[in-house]
Amino acid sequence: MSNFYEERVLSVHHWTDTLFSFTTTRDTTFRFKNGQFTMIGLKVGEKPLLRAYSVASTNYDENLEFFSIKVPDGPLTSRLQNLQVGDPIIIGKKATGTLVLDNLKDGKRLFLLGTGTGLAPFLSLIRDPETYERYEKVVLVHGCRQVSELAYGERIQKELPNDEFLGEMIREQLVYYPTVTREPFRNRGRITDLITSGQLFSDTGLGPFDPAGDRFMLCGSPQMLVDLKQIFEERGLEEGNHGEAGDYVIEKAFAER
Ligand code: A2P
Repeated sequence: MSNFYEERVLSVHHWTDTLFSFTTTRDTTFRFKNGQFTMIGLKVGEKPLLRAYSVASTNYDENLEFFSIKVPDGPLTSRLQNLQVGDPIIIGKKATGTLVLDNLKDGKRLFLLGTGTGLAPFLSLIRDPETYERYEKVVLVHGCRQVSELAYGERIQKELPNDEFLGEMIREQLVYYPTVTREPFRNRGRITDLITSGQLFSDTGLGPFDPAGDRFMLCGSPQMLVDLKQIFEERGLEEGNHGEAGDYVIEKAFAER
């Protein structure tokens, strides 16, 4: 039996020269938890060329969605960025990953901290009703260099609050905080600095950092993860993983593309 599903591309959206997303068909037997990733890719000749991708859609959606960078000479993304509607794509049957609610302790606020395409798993988690049942406030922070890279901002701010089933929870509990580091924008600065300075907490009006009630999920560039981990450890937070729920969990945004 094959370890992969053979699916078809349903839509492609190019956000910038370096970022795009696409949707695919989903086999009815494909199961995953919101926040997990799987291997996806293309057949090159007869060989599958695969990389890990967080699923940006939810486990109750009919189709699958992925958010990707384009690396000009990247083995996979140099091809993937040319995807057209109807093209075949292979999707690994086994999803995995640490950014799942089960790996976090209960608390009052959940901070989802992502840079670049590290936003992807959080797009799934902010559409999971359990996220809002477990945490009073859900703060989605997306850090990018440029404003144009703040993909999905419109959807988060305009579509989700009007969602038929989740709209009310999203309007009352979700706080979206996009931040940009290399050009003017209403929120500026690295996620690390926004946390240590307290600016994230004051800008969102949610009150100061609270180690007893704040939980974090991190996804992004390796150095950001190292720096944030240090910040959290200094404040006494414990990392969670499968088997032991913690105050924060980490997934690196998959870089080699
Ligand atoms: P900066 O512009 O100051 O490097 P990239 O495009 O390199 O993946 O970066 C995405 C975002 O992550 C950028 O806003 C970048 O800020 C930020 N970033 C990069 N390294 C770190 C880090 N160590 N801690 C926090 N943010 C970081």
